[in-house]
Formats: sequence, structure tokens, C-alpha cells
Amino acid sequence: MLLKNLTQISVLCLRAVNISSNFPKNLSSSLTYLNLQGTHIRGRLPNDVFQLPKMQVLALGGNNYLTGSFPKFNCSSKFPLLQQLELSFTNFTGEIPESIGCLKSINFLNFQSCQLSGHLPSNLSKLVQLKTLDLSSNKLEGKIPDVFTNLQHLIYLSLSDNNLDGFFPPSIANLTELKGLDLGSNSMTGHLPSNATGLQKLIFLLLSNNSFSGTIPSWLFRDPKLGLLSNNLWNRFTGGLMDALQLMIKYFIKGQMIDLSFNKLDGPIPMSSISTLQNLVFLDLSSNNLSGIDEPNMFSNLKKLASLSLSNNRLTWRTDNNVSLSFPDLWDLRLSSCGISEFPDFLKNSKDLGFLELSNNNIHQIPSWFTSMPWYSLFYLNLSYNSLSSLVPLRWKSLNILDFRFNQLQGSLPLSICNLEELGILDLSNNKFTGAIPKCFGNFSSELEVLDLTNNGLQGSIEVSFSRQSSLKHLGLSGNFLEGSLPESLPNCEQLEVLDVGNNNMNGTFPTWLKNLKEIKVLILKSNQFFGPVGIFKAKNPFMNLRIFDLSNNKFTGVLPTRILENLRSMMSRNKNETEALYMGLYSDNADYQDSISITMKGLEIEFTRILTTLNTIDLSSNNFSGKIPEVIGNLTALKLLNVSHNRLSGHIPSTIGNLSSLETLDLSSNQIEGEIPRQVTSLTSLEVLNQSQNRLVGRIPLSPQFTTFSNYSYQGNLGLCGFPLTKNCGETDQVPPLQEEDSDNFLGGFTWKSVIVGYGCGIVLGVAVGTLMFLTGKPEQLVRFIEEEIYHCVRFLCWKNQVYRRFRKPKRRCHKNKGTTCN
Ligand SMILES: *[C@@H]1O[C@H](CO)[C@@H](O)[C@H](O)[C@H]1NC(C)=O
Ligand SMILES: *[C@@H]1O[C@H](CO)[C@@H](O)[C@H](O)[C@H]1NC(C)=O
Ligand SMILES: *[C@@H]1O[C@H](CO)[C@@H](O)[C@H](O)[C@H]1NC(C)=O
Ligand SMILES: *[C@@H]1O[C@H](CO)[C@@H](O)[C@H](O)[C@H]1NC(C)=O
Ligand SMILES: *[C@@H]1O[C@H](CO)[C@@H](O)[C@H](O)[C@H]1NC(C)=O
Ligand SMILES: *[C@@H]1O[C@H](CO)[C@@H](O)[C@H](O)[C@H]1NC(C)=O
Ligand SMILES: *[C@@H]1O[C@H](CO)[C@@H](O)[C@H](O)[C@H]1NC(C)=O
Ligand SMILES: *[C@@H]1O[C@H](CO)[C@@H](O)[C@H](O)[C@H]1NC(C)=O
Ligand SMILES: *[C@@H]1O[C@H](CO)[C@@H](O)[C@H](O)[C@H]1NC(C)=O
Ligand SMILES: *[C@@H]1O[C@H](CO)[C@@H](O)[C@H](O)[C@H]1NC(C)=O
Repeated sequence: MLLKNLTQISVLCLRAVNISSNFPKNLSSSLTYLNLQGTHIRGRLPNDVFQLPKMQVLALGGNNYLTGSFPKFNCSSKFPLLQQLELSFTNFTGEIPESIGCLKSINFLNFQSCQLSGHLPSNLSKLVQLKTLDLSSNKLEGKIPDVFTNLQHLIYLSLSDNNLDGFFPPSIANLTELKGLDLGSNSMTGHLPSNATGLQKLIFLLLSNNSFSGTIPSWLFRDPKLGLLSNNLWNRFTGGLMDALQLMIKYFIKGQMIDLSFNKLDGPIPMSSISTLQNLVFLDLSSNNLSGIDEPNMFSNLKKLASLSLSNNRLTWRTDNNVSLSFPDLWDLRLSSCGISEFPDFLKNSKDLGFLELSNNNIHQIPSWFTSMPWYSLFYLNLSYNSLSSLVPLRWKSLNILDFRFNQLQGSLPLSICNLEELGILDLSNNKFTGAIPKCFGNFSSELEVLDLTNNGLQGSIEVSFSRQSSLKHLGLSGNFLEGSLPESLPNCEQLEVLDVGNNNMNGTFPTWLKNLKEIKVLILKSNQFFGPVGIFKAKNPFMNLRIFDLSNNKFTGVLPTRILENLRSMMSRNKNETEALYMGLYSDNADYQDSISITMKGLEIEFTRILTTLNTIDLSSNNFSGKIPEVIGNLTALKLLNVSHNRLSGHIPSTIGNLSSLETLDLSSNQIEGEIPRQVTSLTSLEVLNQSQNRLVGRIPLSPQFTTFSNYSYQGNLGLCGFPLTKNCGETDQVPPLQEEDSDNFLGGFTWKSVIVGYGCGIVLGVAVGTLMFLTGKPEQLVRFIEEEIYHCVRFLCWKNQVYRRFRKPKRRCHKNKGTTCN
């Protein structure tokens, strides 16, 4: 680095030059201007950089690997002259010190997308020269201090996307120069100030995604002079950067936007005020608690509107027949859940629509003019959850997402869909379509990722030919009357993640080619006529990503598919971050698509409209499988449901089953399983549903605190079983074995205190339980820890007392009720 040799240098700008080395030490003290934006410079920023005596402008943004934190500034030193500090998109960390108030000359401070934490210092009030303050996308918390009274030069203030709470600081409302204010995506509460006479120049306002309440104040809607842009807008558009730029130029340079979405604002939408904004381009009031529109007719004043969203409020959108609304520039319309019963007529006048979201309304009919609209860039069309019974031809080749699920659509599937060469998501599920699936549905678009025709009345065999270019990830055909075997071309869909053909009349043998589909996560063949053994031959790591494996209610025979079970890698390790589990599906800036399927759990068929990526299930029930339950089952430690009921399984329950620590449902019923129930079963501490009935099990039912919650229905139909909860005693020969000292220490086995107690759910006074626990273990120090950790959990004491006590008390206190002995 030559920098340190340049001892006399005053201005240095290397912006966007690829430097890729550590930040230089000992910069020249003559520097007044240093710009190293986007130079890939890295390492730690030395503290003295902020205190160079002549430094005025320091611009270091866009260097992801540059670290550093604020030094403590010294107010008594003569410097700094520092006026501009730009460190956005760096790895700058730590708190903003109160001593920042010493930077008396600063007028530009940008730390967007750094890692700043802690509270905002109240000494911000001393930065009276500030024009721009951007601390968005950091980890700042606490209240925004009400310190803006003296910052009368402030033009742009962004504190969005932090964890800030508290009220809207009243002093912001007095900032007469403020043009842009962004407080979005925080946790702010309370009312917006009813009066903000100061904000005469405000043209750009984003308060969305907070918890503001009350009505929308009228000061928000004042005629703007100019327009500004928000990053948020970018997310609204797909297409390349140039498209976005052109759209911006076209719509936003002279416009205005208001985004108050995702708050708790109530009352009517003050159209009488909003309509004074003749230049309004972007209006998003979605996801509030708005009750109506005070003057619906006034909408007709907003001639420049390009984006309108009123979705998810309590309002009903009714356009009066004698008002002719016309939004010639409308590009994005979102009126989901707005009680609309007529297709919005005003769209006739919008020649440039790109995004139309009208889901969850009561629309019965699509007008005929709709199909001839020249919408060359329409890419999103969502009319799901309406009452449509027929579909008009769809001609817009730009369509990317087509969602008509949950309507009453009848007749055969429209062939016009096969002209939509760019379609990525096609969801026609839950309608009344009949007839065969058109052949072209497999190859009309190489972009197609989701094809969902679930729950219709489709018939015939699947003659669709999927092309080799297929991008298909989700194929949902369940709940129809489809016949024949799976299409031969399906192996072409190498990206396939979800294959659901359940609840049809299909037949054929197990599709062994599935072993080549590396991405497959969900395989549902349930309730069909598939037959034969389930085996796979040579394959490298087959089914590594499989999470939901449902072959139930078919005619499969042979042994359980050990070769598959031993490869289910994704079921073998528990996701450490369960709380951050995602839903399976496709995600993009414009629209998320979440996979939905139905699974039998806890004895009920449950429709999962979203599938957690941590849901792992195996359902092989109601087939003709025979042989033993393989030991490898014990490797699937992340498994939540195992149902092998209603087969002809024999042999013993493998003791490895006790390793399934995530298991919530275990159904082994109606088989020919014999032998004793392995004691390890009692370590299934997550178990909520257990059914081992109708087998040939014998011996004493193993018990543990957890297990007393299962009734005798879990065990009935096994003539050789005895002991609680069955009424049949085990007799003297196999009475409760005396507890070993080791046993008594260890009586909770793999349990933690938490699982024992929580296993009982809620109910009883903690104090009572505490006494009993102590008596049982004689280890008060464990108890103390338990109370600290679990003080808020309550304990269902009765179960404990009545059932478990009997099993775990110390031998000398043991008493047998059987054989007429009495307790001493
Ligand atoms: C930079 O200065 C050091 C001494 O401070 C000297 O050794 C070195 O040669 C100088 N480099 C150049 C390129 O002038
Ligand atoms: C940097 O400056 C410090 C004191 O200001 C001095 O001790 C050190 O030698 C200098 N380092 C270099 C590499 O010039
Ligand atoms: C805003 O300005 C007005 C008039 O200058 C003043 O009366 C009021 O106290 C100020 N409010 C705040 C919160 O600073
Ligand atoms: C709302 O804000 C939170 C962070 O505060 C963010 O994670 C979330 O994505 C935001 N939601 C929307 C709809 O912008
Ligand atoms: C929405 O407004 C109604 C009527 O004012 C009120 O009862 C309800 O609690 C509000 N809902 C929310 C989530 O604020
Ligand atoms: C789709 O497949 C059919 C039959 O294989 C073929 O005739 C047709 O040309 C294909 N269409 C496209 C768009 O590739
Ligand atoms: C297991 O499968 C059978 C038949 O497929 C079903 O009746 C039962 O409810 C399932 N068990 C559980 C616990 O879901
Ligand atoms: C699984 O269970 C068997 C038998 O109970 C036991 O020996 C083995 O250690 C367990 N394995 C793991 C990884 O817990
Ligand atoms: C257990 O399964 C049997 C048949 O396999 C069924 O009749 C019974 O209702 C099930 N019991 C419970 C508690 O789920
Ligand atoms: C199951 O328990 C009920 C009451 O809890 C009892 O009436 C019934 O006889 C028991 N059945 C068996 C087979 O133990």
C-alpha cells in the first residue's frame, strides 16, 4: 500500500477501484476527502480515521468485509471538521456513542445495512447541521428519542428495518425541510400525530410494518411538489434493472408514494384527503383494519395511480355504477379480501396491467372484454378463492403466475393455457374440472415449476409428456379420478421436489426411477391401487432429501423397504433451528408459493396449506407389507410420524425405535407383531399418539411418566399384554421388578426434568408436585434447577400421583395391590 507514502495528499478518491487489501494504517493527516467506496477494502477501520484533523468527507460504503466500530469522540479537541460519513453496507458494529454529539459539523451520516446495535443516543440532538441520517437495516433497539427539534436542516431520515419501538417522536412533525421519512419495519406503536404543520415538504413517506393504530391523519395527504423513490418499489417489479429503471422514470420521478401497509390503522380510508394528491402513483394501505372508504367517488381523481393495494382490511370495495373510474397507468392492483362481487370494470381503461390480485372475493364471472386486453406485461394473475364457474381464454404470453385455486371452475382444462410459454406457477386446484389432463400440460412451458391440479374431477390416464427441459418442482394431482400408471416421461423432471398423486385410481408398481430424482422431498402415492414390492436397486444416495413418504392404502407387498429407509438422510438429523423452520415452496420478490398437501396425522386427515421443512413422516399403513420392522428405522431421529398399521408385519418391535426422539405419532396397530414391547419405547418423550393395538404383543406394558397418558385403547387386542393401563394384572410371576439403586438414580432415563414435567401439560399447583418430586428423587438440588427453569410450567399432578408413583417409588415403600396385599 502506497497510501502512507502520500504524506501531503489531501483528496483521494479510489471509488470502485478493486483494492482488496486491508485498510491502510497511518493515513496522511493532510487528508480532507477519502473515498474508498466499493473497493473491496477489508480489515478493521482504525479509530484514528475519524479523528484525522482535516478530514471532511469519509466515504467507505459498499465494502462488506470492512469492520470497525465508533470510537469515543473527544469534544474538546479542535477537530473534527468531519461533514460526511458514509459507511453503508459495511460490517461496522457496536453502539453509537453519546459522544457522537461532538461531530458538530456533520451533515451526512449513512450507516444503512451495517450491524449497529443498542439505543439511539439522545445527543443526536446536537448534530444540528444534519441533512441526511440513514441508520436503516441495523439492529438498533429501544425508543426513538424525541430529539429532532433542533435538526431543522434534516431532509432525509431513515430508521427503517431495526427493532425500534415506542411512539412516533413528535419533534419529527416539526421538520420543515424533511422530504423523505422512512420508519418502516420497526415495532412502533401509538397514533400518528394528528397535526404536522411542519412537514410541508414531505413527499416520500414509509411507515409500513409497524403497529401504529388509530385513524389515518389528513396531513399525510398534501399536494406534493416532487417525487422520490423507495427501494421497496424495486421489489415490486420483476424484469431486469433496465426495466425497473424505465418504469421508475415513467411512473415515479414526478410521483408520490404512500405506504402504510401492515399497521393497525382503522376507520375509513380518507379518500376526501387522499384525492387531493393528484400525482399519487403508489398507494398501499393493505393489511390494516380500515373499515371503508369515506368518498369512493374521489378515487376517480387519482388519474396517475400505478399501484394500488387495499387488500386485507375490513372494507368492502364497491364502485358506484355512475362513477367512471379510470386509471390509465395502473400497473399493479391488489384488492384481495375486499368483498368484491363484480370483476372491476375500470380495468378496461388500464392498458398496461402487470400484476392483478383479486383473491378472496366473491367474483362470479370474468367479463368477456377481459380476454382481449392488451396487457403485454401481465405476469401475475390471482383470482383464487372466488366463485368463478368458467374461465375465459388466457392469451397473455408474459403470464408467470396463474392462480385460480378454490373456485367452481367446470369443464375440461382449458387448452389456451398451453400458449402460456413463460408460465412458472399454475394452480387450478380445488375446482370442478373434469376430463383428461391435456397432453401439452407437460411441455408447454420450460419455466413451469408448479403444476397443481389437486382436488378436481379429472379422469383417465395421465398422458402428459414431460420434456427434458422441465423445471417442474411440484406436481400435485391428488384427489381426482386418474387411472393408469405414472407417466413414463416423469423421470425427465429432474428438479421434482413434490410428487403427490394420492387419492386417485392409479395402479402400477413402485416407480423405482424415483431414486434418480435427487431433489424429491415429498412422495405421496396414498389411496391408489399401486402394487408389488417396494424395492430399489443400485443408486447412489437415493431419497436423501425425502421428508414425507406416504404409500398408505395401496396394495404394496413384500418387506418394508429397508434400502430406502436407510438412505433417508434428511430424516436422520434434527434441524437445530426448529424455530426458524421454513415452509416448503417457492419464494421470490413478487409472490411466494407454499406447497400444500394432506397427511393423516393423529388419526385425522389434515390439510397442510404450508409444509414446515421440519415435518418428517413415513406412512406405509394399509398395505400388504410383511416381515419385520427393520432396525434401521431407529436412525431416523428426526421422524415425527411413523404409521405402519394395517399390514401383515411380524417379528418383534426393534429396540432401536427408542431412538426416534422426535416421534409424535407411532401407529403399529393391526399387524402380527409379537414379543414384548421393548422398554426403550418409553424414551419416546415427544410421543402424543400411540397405537399398538391388534397385534400379538405379550408381557408387561413398559411405563414411564410420559406413557401414562395413553389409555388402554393404545394396547387393546393384544391378548398377552398386561399391566397398566389395561385392567389385566400381570400376576405375581412378573410383578414390578424391584428397582435397582442405579435404576432409581436413573429413573428418568434419558428424560430431563423438563420433559417429565411438561409431558403432563398444565393443571396443578406447583408446590404440591415439588414435594412429591423431592420425595421421589431425594435430590433437592435438581429440583431447584427445575424450578428456576420451569417455574412457569404447570404440572398435572394427578397422573403422576396415581400412575407413575407406583412405578418409580423406592422398593422399601413398594406395595402391591394385587394378591390382596395391603400397603404399609
Ligand atoms: C514509501 O516510504 C518508505 C519509507 O517510509 C520507503 O522505504 C519506500 O521506498 C517508499 N515507497 C515508495 C514506492 O516510494
Ligand atoms: C504509525 O504511527 C505510529 C504513531 O503515530 C508510529 O508509531 C508507527 O510506527 C507508524 N507506523 C507506520 C507503519 O508508519
Ligand atoms: C413545533 O413547532 C411549534 C411552532 O414552532 C412549537 O410550538 C411546538 O412546540 C413544536 N413542537 C415540537 C414537538 O417541537
Ligand atoms: C416487517 O419487519 C420485520 C423486521 O422488523 C421483517 O422481518 C419483515 O420482513 C417485515 N415484513 C414486511 C411485510 O415488510
Ligand atoms: C379492528 O377494528 C374493530 C372495530 O373498531 C375492533 O373491534 C378490532 O379489535 C380491530 N382489530 C384490530 C386487530 O385492531
Ligand atoms: C410437447 O410434446 C408433444 C409430444 O411429445 C410435441 O408434439 C409438442 O411439439 C411439444 N411441445 C412443445 C412446446 O415442446
Ligand atoms: C394410520 O393409518 C391408518 C390407515 O391408513 C389410519 O386409519 C390411522 O388413523 C393412522 N394412524 C394415525 C395415528 O394417524
Ligand atoms: C439406538 O438404539 C440402540 C438400541 O436401543 C442403542 O444401542 C443405540 O446406542 C442407539 N443409538 C443412538 C445413536 O442413540
Ligand atoms: C388403534 O388402531 C385400531 C385399528 O388398527 C383402531 O381400531 C383404534 O381405534 C386405534 N386406537 C387409537 C387409540 O387410535
Ligand atoms: C379400558 O379402560 C376402561 C376404563 O378406563 C375399562 O372400562 C375397560 O375395561 C378397559 N379395557 C381393557 C381391555 O382393559
